[in-house]
Amino acid sequence: MINAARSAGRSLARDFHEVENLQVSKKGPGDFVSNADHRAEDIIFEALSKARPGYGFVMEERGVVEGSDKTNRFIVDPLDGTLNFLHGQPHFAVSIALEREGQLFCGVVYDVAKNEIFWAEKGRGAWLENRKLRVAARRKLGESVFATGTPWLGKAEEHHQQFWGELAAMTPVCAGIRRYGSAALDLAYVAAGRFDGFWERHLKSWDIAAGAVLVREAGGVVGEIDGGDILTTGNILAANDDLYSQLEARLRKAKAFLPAGSDDA
Ligand code: IPD
Ligand code: CA
Ligand code: CA
Repeated sequence: MINAARSAGRSLARDFHEVENLQVSKKGPGDFVSNADHRAEDIIFEALSKARPGYGFVMEERGVVEGSDKTNRFIVDPLDGTLNFLHGQPHFAVSIALEREGQLFCGVVYDVAKNEIFWAEKGRGAWLENRKLRVAARRKLGESVFATGTPWLGKAEEHHQQFWGELAAMTPVCAGIRRYGSAALDLAYVAAGRFDGFWERHLKSWDIAAGAVLVREAGGVVGEIDGGDILTTGNILAANDDLYSQLEARLRKAKAFLPAGSDDA
């Protein structure tokens, strides 16, 4: 999985360089980025199919590929942080998880621009290269920095309302909130103690599967905000044990609203 992530990363790094040049062109880098995404996914698919014949796949671009081995499947996002990539911002990742017998078993999140490989395997811990990772030990919300994700143009109005409600519940009580634009890296950063926690709703399984293994193996808690299954709803919350329950209580109590003037054209 690490080899596959590195190979895809090499291809993305080359394409990212080109995207930086395309920013100023009239046509913009849109189609080019979508091709970069597909190229990276093809590389991962070929590498993993060869290394583990028969395993199934869930891939963002290709969808579900049934394998002859029903107990193992890879969950892959070849490029997480597409909008950053498109805008020439060096914060995007390759995310690969392995689900075994219905449980998340290993995860690799590769930050291509910073050349950081985060990886974890059930029972073997979470690692950044050869440094063992541990979630941050902070217990007070007031000292903590959290990552989240914001909805955008085209998302249902309820999603925007829910987001604003949750943001309003969090900003007055914590040290800071960040929106870096890659859910896979947000989770890797929780595992590395760089963020004290992360929440976001309506994500896809490929955004969070690898990162969830990282956080759990780094001693953190990962769950569904309302108590369901993260891979089904994509409503994820991750933090250390102490902060998890405080965040969960706040998010569940948050009341949806939209700030005045936000529907102005
Ligand atoms: C996106 C990123 C982003 C999150 C979005 C995802 P993509 O994945 O993870 O942080 O807020 O919801 O769709 O589209 O860049 O693969
Ligand atoms: Ca993604
Ligand atoms: Ca993607």
